[in-house]
Amino acid sequence: MKDKLVIFDTTLRDGEQSPGASMTQDEKIRIARLLEKMRVDVIEAGFPAASPGDFKSVNAISEIIKDSTVCGLARANPKDIQKAGEALKPAASSRIHTFIATSPIHMQHKLRMQPDEVIDHAVAAIRQARNFTDNVEFSPEDAGRSEFDFLCRVLEAAIDAGATTVNIPDTVGYNLPSQFGTLVKNLMENVPNSDKAVFSVHCHNDLGLAVANSLAAVMEGARQVECTVNGLGERAGNASLEEIVMAVRTRQDEFVCDINIDTTQIVPASRLVSNITGFPVQPNKAIVGANAFAHEAGIHQDGIIKARETYEIMCAEDVGWAANRMVLGKHSGRNAFKERLKSLGFEFASEEDSIAAFTRFKDLADKKHEIFDDDLQALLTESGNISENERFVLKHIETRSQTSLTPVASVVVEVDGEDAKAEEQGNGAVDATFKAIEKIVDSGGLLQLYSVNSITSGTDAQGEVSVRLEKNGEIVNGHGADLDIVIASAKAYVNALNKLCNPEGKVHPQMAQAI
Ligand code: KIV
Ligand code: ZN
Repeated sequence: MKDKLVIFDTTLRDGEQSPGASMTQDEKIRIARLLEKMRVDVIEAGFPAASPGDFKSVNAISEIIKDSTVCGLARANPKDIQKAGEALKPAASSRIHTFIATSPIHMQHKLRMQPDEVIDHAVAAIRQARNFTDNVEFSPEDAGRSEFDFLCRVLEAAIDAGATTVNIPDTVGYNLPSQFGTLVKNLMENVPNSDKAVFSVHCHNDLGLAVANSLAAVMEGARQVECTVNGLGERAGNASLEEIVMAVRTRQDEFVCDINIDTTQIVPASRLVSNITGFPVQPNKAIVGANAFAHEAGIHQDGIIKARETYEIMCAEDVGWAANRMVLGKHSGRNAFKERLKSLGFEFASEEDSIAAFTRFKDLADKKHEIFDDDLQALLTESGNISENERFVLKHIETRSQTSLTPVASVVVEVDGEDAKAEEQGNGAVDATFKAIEKIVDSGGLLQLYSVNSITSGTDAQGEVSVRLEKNGEIVNGHGADLDIVIASAKAYVNALNKLCNPEGKVHPQMAQAI
C-alpha cells in the first residue's frame, strides 16, 4: 500500500491573487464543484478576512462541497482566524490555514517583529484555530529564504500547538529542485515532532521550477502539494495541478506515493478556469495545451498509428481530452440539457436559473446546429455572470462596416432600468461598440485585455470574448459568447462594467500588515 499524496488546490485563493484573475462567487462555486468532482483532497476556497465577498464565497463553498475538505486562509492574528472559523462553519470537513513570515527580510521589513514574537503569534493563531477545527495548517511564509535553525524552531512550536499540516512555501520561487528537496528532507529529520504532522510544499514559478521543486520535495517525503489549475497564481504562478498529478500518476515506478484524483476532469477544469479568468492556456502547455497531444510530424504520426506508446507517454482520454463531444441539438429537451450539465459538474441553484439557461440554450440551438460541451460551458459562464440586480443590460446593438468607410456602432443599454442610446465611430466594429457603450456608462475603466476565442471549430462556432478593465487599481474580467463576435464583445464589455461599477475593497493577504 503506497502513501497518499494530498492534493491541495489553491486556484480560488492564490490563483485568484493573480492580477486580473478575480472571480465572482458563482464562478468560484462552479470551479469548486469541478474540483470536488476531480476528487481534490483540499480546496483552499479563499481568504475570508480579505473582504465581505471573500467571506461569503468561502461560506457558500463550505455549504455546498461535501467530498473535499474546504480550507480558508488566515494571517496569524485573532481577527483573521475568527473570520476563517466563521466562514468555514457549515463545511462537512474544514481546515484553517494560518501563516506568518519567517525569513529575515520579511520579519525585519514587513512584520517588524523579532523572531520570538513571530513564534508567539504563530502558536497563538494555531491554538485559536484549533477551537474551530482540529485540521489546522501552518505556513512559515518565505520558508525558502528562512534560516534553517529558526525554521526548525517555528515548525516544532507549530506542531506542538496543534498544527496537523506544516507547509513549506517557496514564496518567491527562489529555490532549486535539489536544494528544496534537501530542505524538506532536513526539516523532517531535524524537527523533533515532525512525525506528528504532514509536510506540505507550496512553490511559486518565478524561475519556472515550481513543479520540479514540488516533485523534488515529494521524493524526499512531502505528502501534500499545493497547486493550481493551469498554474494560475501570483506573478509567474504556482505549481500546476495537472503537471503534478500527471507526473506522479505517470511515473509510479519512481514515486512511493499515489494520488486519488480523477484525472479525466483535468481538461474540463483547465477550460473552466481559463474561461472564467480570461487567462488563455498556451498551446504547448503540458497536459492541457491544445498541442499537448497533437502530432504534426509525419514520422510521429506513423509511429502513433502503429503503437501509441512510441511517442505518447499518457492517453489524451485519461486527462479528459475526449470530452468535447457533440451533445445536444435544437430538439433536445430540458432533462437532457440538465443531465448533460450535471455530467459537466454543474447544478442549478434554482428552477428559475435552470429555465433561464435552457431558454438561452434553445436560442443558441436555433442558430447553431450542433452544440458541444464547450458551447455549454460558455453558456454557463455567461448565465452565471448575469445576476438579477445588474445596473447595465445590453438591449440592442447595430454596427455598420464597409470597405473604406469608418465603422459605426449604435447601442442601446439599459442603465438602472432606463434605456439609453448612443452612436460612435471607431477603428473597427468592436472599437466603435465599446466607445458607444462607454459614452452611455462613462465608467472611466481602462481596457487592459481584449481576447476572442473560437469555442469550437468551423465558421458557425461561437466567439467567446474576454474583456479586462481596470480603474483605480480595481481589475475586473467580463465574458460574453455569441455566434457574432461583435455582439459577444459588447456582452463581455457590459459584463465587465457591471463588475467594475460594483467594486468591493479587498485586502491582499501577503501585502497587508500581518497583525
Ligand atoms: O506563497 C506563499 O507563501 C503563500 C502562503 C500564504 C502560503 O501563498
Ligand atoms: Zn503562494
